[in-house]
Amino acid sequence: MTTSRPSGRQFPADFLWGSATASYQIEGAVAEGGRGPSIWDTFSQTPGKVLHGDTGAVAADHYHRVPQDVALMKDLGLQAYRFSVAWSRVQPTGSGEFNQAGLDFYVGLVDELLAAGIKPVVTLYHWDLPQALEDEGGWANRRTAELFADYARKLAEVLGDKIHLWTTLNEPWCSAFLGYGSGVHAPGVTDEHSALAAVHHLNLAHGLAGRAIREVLGENTPVSITLNLHVTRADSDSAQDVEAKRRIDTIANEVFLQPLLEGRYPQQVFADTAHLSDWSFVQDGDLDLIRIPIDVLGVNYYATGRVKHGTPPVGDGTPGPDGHRSSEKSPWIGADHVEWLPLPGPYTAMGWNIESDGLVELLLGLSERYPTVPLAITENGAAFYDTVSEDGRVHDADRVDYLHDHIDAVGEAIDKGADVRGYFVWSLLDNFEWAYGYDRRFGIVRVDYDTLERTVKDSGHWYRELLRTRTIPT
Ligand code: NOJ
Repeated sequence: MTTSRPSGRQFPADFLWGSATASYQIEGAVAEGGRGPSIWDTFSQTPGKVLHGDTGAVAADHYHRVPQDVALMKDLGLQAYRFSVAWSRVQPTGSGEFNQAGLDFYVGLVDELLAAGIKPVVTLYHWDLPQALEDEGGWANRRTAELFADYARKLAEVLGDKIHLWTTLNEPWCSAFLGYGSGVHAPGVTDEHSALAAVHHLNLAHGLAGRAIREVLGENTPVSITLNLHVTRADSDSAQDVEAKRRIDTIANEVFLQPLLEGRYPQQVFADTAHLSDWSFVQDGDLDLIRIPIDVLGVNYYATGRVKHGTPPVGDGTPGPDGHRSSEKSPWIGADHVEWLPLPGPYTAMGWNIESDGLVELLLGLSERYPTVPLAITENGAAFYDTVSEDGRVHDADRVDYLHDHIDAVGEAIDKGADVRGYFVWSLLDNFEWAYGYDRRFGIVRVDYDTLERTVKDSGHWYRELLRTRTIPT
């Protein structure tokens, strides 16, 4: 692809630049230091669930390489690092006893970051639920939300004011609809009612955890949540196509935005899903618990979608533009008559279309709707089939182009009035890309999975230059 935007855009001096990872995707050491099993250990060990049978057992071996990896971050000039805590590392069964060795690991990481002048941005839940909690129903069980608050409280006590920003959940849409709806993610449940219950219990978990953190550290402690809001366009302005888009917006975006920021569920979701669930898992008072003031709304953005009224193809296993295969159960609950349309390229190795305008649209839409809620891009990046050249380097020009255009889109949104405070590239390192295992590489640093050696890709050098100058390199 070629870049379509002018280069040289400058960013405000206080704009925060960083990079992101997640525990199960990079740590490895799944049976060390007293860590208990998580749903991703179980799922990845189940034949047929992850491409090539890959698991997170070793991943990027970050658990054993913290000093080296933090030195790498410092060398890249990162101002902030977004990582997640593996719940089952610090509390092996998700309730009861905490594991001191697990807590020490994260204290060590945070201290190492601070010593390097890098601000720790912590995510408490990036999909690796303790297996023992899944055995009791996981996110379909309300108790998981309550236990999540106990876990958050403990981390607040242990990590205290060393943390720059607390993020409760990463992409609860994926946890609920890929984990309990289509089942392509752990725990691999395919039950619509459970998926909807999971939505509510995840929302509740956010509210309870945010409250617990602030009880320990004070009302002004910065708390956020990260959503993967879907930018979906209707194929035409016919009433039916507009309704198709509305259904997707409701089940993908509104079931999170409205309870979190407005204290209610969208009424339409009850009608859209009435044949599947009576939503009796929503108890009196829950919506007041869910809506807490947040200091930042984290936005993960990768691609866009296009829909029309129709019937999704069934049965032949073809990957659709929405990322799931036609033979798989749809994660789009209450949207049976929505057909996803192919989008024009270029595409990344995930098959996702590259369209940075969607990011401008998303940021401007959010800031118009919620003018008092600052935004941060907590993930953005691209997988490509990188190769190592004879000079030993990775000339990932496609990723440089992708980052260039999307960071420029962030700058455009800021210039048009959106209150965007930071950008975190996904990802620092190549890592375990969930159901795609190690086949898809998102890093700005390559990981050789045989030697675990790290090599900064051209995109990493490009990003370093951007961070040094606060200006998009030409
Ligand atoms: C979002 C998820 O938070 C992250 O874990 C994943 O690797 C990226 N998207 C890319 O799919």
